[in-house]
Amino acid sequence: MKILVTGKGGREHALITALSESPEKHELYAYPGSDAIASLATRVDVPDLPELIAWMQQNAIDLCVAGEEAWLVKGRGLANLCAEAGLPCWGPVKEAAQLEASKAFAKHFLQRHHIPTASYTVCTTAEEARATLTEFPIVLKFDGLAAGKGVAVCLSREEAESFITDVMEKRVFGAGNLVVEQCLTGPELSVFASVCDDQYHILMPARDYKRIGDNDQGPNTGGMGAVASRQLADSELMARIEREIVQPTVTGLIKDGLKYRGFLYFGLMLTPDGPKVIEYNCRFGDPEAEAVMPMVRGDFANYVFAAAKGELQRDLLQFAEGWSICLISASAGYPASSRSGDVISGLTAVEGARVYHCGTRQNSAGQFETHGGRVLAVVAQGATRQEARDKAYAESQKVTFDGMQRRSDIGQMHFE
Ligand code: AMP
Ligand code: GLY
Repeated sequence: MKILVTGKGGREHALITALSESPEKHELYAYPGSDAIASLATRVDVPDLPELIAWMQQNAIDLCVAGEEAWLVKGRGLANLCAEAGLPCWGPVKEAAQLEASKAFAKHFLQRHHIPTASYTVCTTAEEARATLTEFPIVLKFDGLAAGKGVAVCLSREEAESFITDVMEKRVFGAGNLVVEQCLTGPELSVFASVCDDQYHILMPARDYKRIGDNDQGPNTGGMGAVASRQLADSELMARIEREIVQPTVTGLIKDGLKYRGFLYFGLMLTPDGPKVIEYNCRFGDPEAEAVMPMVRGDFANYVFAAAKGELQRDLLQFAEGWSICLISASAGYPASSRSGDVISGLTAVEGARVYHCGTRQNSAGQFETHGGRVLAVVAQGATRQEARDKAYAESQKVTFDGMQRRSDIGQMHFE
């Protein structure tokens, strides 16, 4: 089978690795991919989506897997164009991908289908947004894609006013509304499901660490680490999440006429009143994919292929017991900026852990160097959380570059 994955980061490196480890040998392609991904998949170099579709048709690609979200909503939408071309695509059509692309769309969807979530108001102007600021903390969300930076949990009026100025007046993320939300408390949980029309399959849950610094200090990032294990949520909690959140979401999609085939990510907060949805993402999480993918057993490639064609074959996919821990190394300046060109040393010394490349490139001497905010993911597994954590930290110590930032409490904080 010929499979093309869209994207270029650590999540795509992990997805492509899992596809490459499926029992049968498949021809793998990545658009645009990365220098590291190139060792597993042929990179496709075309200017844009229409050319990609034409390329996939000319090259008889059997399956397109959506890694990152951007292509799903760009132009006429990756999955929409694949459908027109008769190409199986694992990733939803543009209309359904609004669940991720628009916070307001997602909130209206949640409310309409009675799925637990924080109360909210959608504001179209800075004045309207300022008028809602009556209690703190409060959560402000830009209503559009903002590379994980469009959300501010504001502890004070000053913080909230400054975010409103940036987003609604300076328009740092471009045009768009602002969703003002009640602040929820509790541990977070990322639940993933494969959704195939009216069927779903809940996968291994994970937890990510969004703040740059230890003890959840400092600004939000794309994710500084992740933990994956079935033990993150007991069967009673998972049954409640399925009943109150996953099922009504899938039924809601059908009721609203939104065709969905792909991974669906439920960003949840386990509040004292039960699990509530913070966000939907129409793809796997990053860095959660890096933690979950090494736990995949079975035939991932054929599972995704069958699901993209409308048949969810749950028995093709299993997950290992135990724990998986992913540590992200970020470049100097991240998340405000990111420094490129710092040479990475120690990559070949890593044993007993996987290294996925999130933002690297190869220089003219063939060395990998930093090329983006999040640079590398080092991921290890163990029978216990402590074992996985010890292994991941021991292996990650071997890899360094100038200005590297790495949290020291992944897999520890939120557990003790
Ligand atoms: P989002 O991009 O919507 O996932 O938001 C990013 C992060 O902001 C989440 O992972 C939470 O840590 C935090 N957050 C979002 N919404 C809320 C909320 N209603 N209450 C508390 N924290 C939130
Ligand atoms: N881990 C958060 C995300 O993928 O958006």
